Amino acid sequence: MPQLNKITVLGSGIMGHGIAQISAMNGYQVVLRDIEQRFLDSAMDKIKWSLDKLVEKNKIKKEESEKIYGRIKPIVELKDALIDTDLLIEAVPEDLNLKKKVYSEVDQFAEEKTVYASNTSTLPISEISQLTSRPDRFIGLHFFNPPQLMKLVEVIPGARTEKSIVDLGINLVKSLGKDPVLCNKDVPGFIVNRIFIPLVHEAAYCLESDGKTMTQIDSAVKFKLFLPMGIFELADYTGIDVIHKATFEMYSRDKKVIYPHPMIAQLFSSGKLGKKSGDGFYSYGDKNYERVPLSEEEAKQYDPIRMLSVALNNASWLITNNVCNNEDLELALRLGMGLKKELFEIGKEYGFEKIINTLNQLKKGNESFYTPDPYLVTLSK
Ligand code: CAA
Repeated sequence: MPQLNKITVLGSGIMGHGIAQISAMNGYQVVLRDIEQRFLDSAMDKIKWSLDKLVEKNKIKKEESEKIYGRIKPIVELKDALIDTDLLIEAVPEDLNLKKKVYSEVDQFAEEKTVYASNTSTLPISEISQLTSRPDRFIGLHFFNPPQLMKLVEVIPGARTEKSIVDLGINLVKSLGKDPVLCNKDVPGFIVNRIFIPLVHEAAYCLESDGKTMTQIDSAVKFKLFLPMGIFELADYTGIDVIHKATFEMYSRDKKVIYPHPMIAQLFSSGKLGKKSGDGFYSYGDKNYERVPLSEEEAKQYDPIRMLSVALNNASWLITNNVCNNEDLELALRLGMGLKKELFEIGKEYGFEKIINTLNQLKKGNESFYTPDPYLVTLSK
């Protein structure tokens, strides 16, 4: 297995800068590459902010934070960014045409030894890897936002990924202090996004039809479904552009995975991209990190059974189709979304029969999306 010393991260957005930071925090020499210096300046400011936070919370020492910062070299010139690199982690926006362009440039300069990894959240690893000179030494490493705090990394082999590269990916994730979960099949959304992205759309349907406010729905998500953030809050935090692109990519490959609500596309086209643009479902100030106030009192105003039913149905699909087992699914939701209670445990408390009835009611609107998965049906018996 190749030795990893130097990592080049392509793309310095929310995910790219976080991946660069945790790589440097764990001793790797890191190059952070973007197409313009101003993007890199903004990314390095965010890294500085995050390191200062970790110092403030006594997670690292001040001198250590300076060394970590010094281990990250921001570079615009792609050729220079790829010199002597052992691992490339691509974290550019989710657009296959853009990735195609990026990888064709990378292929011109990357050394023979460089292994390729993509942080794609929704595009099939096999499809991307075929755009490159090395589909056998290509792997999906899907980190979660914020990479500095979330422990999960989904490891997704493509159709031609060599076993040694899967092992390399798993070992790298462990060396970053993260927990890998292997995604056995290269399906749209992998594990966590197959649950998260459809849930954002479902929340939009609930907002439209249930006569409740966003903070009532989000409070119920936080206090009754045990997620650390409300679902609209999490969508804004992730980025409406990310949700919109993920929706497009997942839905174009599998109509069963998602039931798109037009609200997401509308927010996207009006430039309301969430926290990063100051407006999304909610409005924000200019602080680096900002939370939406949610309360147990407001949670009492709403029953989130529809969202729970959809989450359980998509989770069941993953199990039925051997993408992961129940244990890995719960681990992924706990470490990737901060879910504080097991999803199927919440389902059990609500009652699986009630969940199936909810889905059967919803089936009239979109049969292929809401039809209860056989695994979920067996739980209700
Ligand atoms: N670096 C360092 N510190 C950070 C930070 C960062 N990048 N981001 C936030 N913090 C700090 C905050 O500033 C805050 O500090 P203060 O106490 O000084 O204010 C501290 O972390 C804790 O924040 P909270 O009080 O809000 O505490 P929390 O318990 O809710 O934890 C959280 C924060 C870990 C983000 C948690 O809310 C969480 O897990 N949210 C869900 C995130 C999630 O689901 N991510 C996955 C999204 S999907 C995805 O990423 C995949 C995709 O492909 C789309």
